[in-house]
Amino acid sequence: MGKVTVITSGKGGTGKSTLAAGLGAALVRRGSRVLIIDCDAGMRGIDLMLGVSGELVFDIADIVIGNCPPDSAIYPCKTVPELYILPAPQNVRDKVSPYIMKQLVRVLEKYYDHILIDCPAGIGTGFQSAAVSAHRAIIVANAEPLSVRSCDKVRSRLKEMNIPSILLVINRFNERKFRKMNVFPDLDAVIDRSGVRLLGIVPEDNAVASLTQRGEPVEGRLKAVYAFDRIAARLDGVHVPLED
Ligand SMILES: Nc1ncnc2c1ncn2[C@@H]1O[C@H](COP(=O)(O)OP(=O)(O)OP(=O)(O)O)[C@@H](O)[C@H]1O
Ligand SMILES: [Mg+2]
Repeated sequence: MGKVTVITSGKGGTGKSTLAAGLGAALVRRGSRVLIIDCDAGMRGIDLMLGVSGELVFDIADIVIGNCPPDSAIYPCKTVPELYILPAPQNVRDKVSPYIMKQLVRVLEKYYDHILIDCPAGIGTGFQSAAVSAHRAIIVANAEPLSVRSCDKVRSRLKEMNIPSILLVINRFNERKFRKMNVFPDLDAVIDRSGVRLLGIVPEDNAVASLTQRGEPVEGRLKAVYAFDRIAARLDGVHVPLED
């Protein structure tokens, strides 16, 4: 039975989809079979990041209304074997209800070691559908006041939904910019303010942004890839010391 992890954020654009793509590839490197479900109806992006956007015929909504069996809407990522994607509907009005989503994920989790669910920003119905079946949640924040403040709302909502484990990833961290902003004294203050236990820190890495924008595999000797590998190990229960 696979572990289901929803990747959320209060504020938009913090790097949820980038983390889903990078972490998916990192979990595959650890020997897992991984499915990424894009729950961002109307704004899907994981298909582009994994280089399969030209091939999509069906999406989650097609499974739900019976247009196709589930495996016809699940696409293998060509460049990363054992990484699969289930795309979100292109149109926001076709988004799947939390009740149906939960049933679907309970079936799919039998076939994968990990399911990562890429969530829309905020705590609307898209968020609920994405989070309802999760065994754990990652809140992705940038080390900026607005982003950090929004963690609190998401964490409370996830708690109300009884998600057993809620973890923080600080993404796009750039020490020079962080110091220049001069809002938080250090990263501990960011973590305290978020109210969420830290899972990992991903540095700002334009090389990784370019890979995902071009739909190329998130791999290689890059700072962010190293961070994704460490986060993947922690998700698998391996003790990896927090970033130095
Ligand atoms: N670690 C990183 N280093 C540099 N750029 C990054 C990093 N992570 C994400 N980005 C860039 O930040 C932008 C937003 O990333 P992404 O689309 O993953 O965010 P998101 O949280 O999924 O956004 P949305 O809320 O719109 O779904 C993209 O241009 C992406 O390339
Ligand atoms: Mg996204």
